[in-house]
Amino acid sequence: MNITYYGHSCFGVEIKNKHLVFDPFISPNELAKNIDVNNIKADYILISHGHEDHIADAVSLAKRTKATIICNWEIYVWLSKQGVENIHPMNIGGKVKLDFGNVKCVYAAHSSGLPDGTYGGNPMGFVVESSEGNFYYAGDTALTYDMKLIGEYRSIDFAFLPIGDNFTMGVDNAIICTEFINCGDIIGMHYDTFGFIKIDKEEAVRKFDWAGKRLTLMEIGQTLTK
Ligand code: NI
Ligand code: MN
Repeated sequence: MNITYYGHSCFGVEIKNKHLVFDPFISPNELAKNIDVNNIKADYILISHGHEDHIADAVSLAKRTKATIICNWEIYVWLSKQGVENIHPMNIGGKVKLDFGNVKCVYAAHSSGLPDGTYGGNPMGFVVESSEGNFYYAGDTALTYDMKLIGEYRSIDFAFLPIGDNFTMGVDNAIICTEFINCGDIIGMHYDTFGFIKIDKEEAVRKFDWAGKRLTLMEIGQTLTK
């Protein structure tokens, strides 16, 4: 499985030659100015919630690549009105079997208004299961006890967790989350992009280290293999 970081909470994950893109927010992100969104491959675009910093490039990316967008019902309706053709609507608790593996939508404690003020339904996280490994993409969320359900009923190899605090979990709560999901191999996201979520990256990695966990903070544009 290859993972490429496109900044903020946006990652490309390649599983079985299929390209998944999570929460595309690239062209408005000053930190990701070296990423050319027109070069990104996508077979599936997974959108955790409707906020601009998770959906900004979704319509253009979907139209260029013909990728299938996976999102909640309300975002499905909103994207349909903008001419996106391939959309698979889901909601929390639901699972779908796709050609690379399974995607299950899980609870996220956050909000989800769309950029034009339209109601965006409930925010979600995703659990992806495949023969190349299982992972949890938390989206924007607080620490919740529901995360224990993720750890108790399946094995997670690694997880993408928000660590920027203010709008989501911060580092300390993300470390507690690793206990809940029974997985200590974490890729950080949703930090440093704008003022409210600037963090001390070295301290974050050190805190995970002290807790016996691993926090990976990828460079924008970097690809790693799991
Ligand atoms: Ni958000
Ligand atoms: Mn966000």
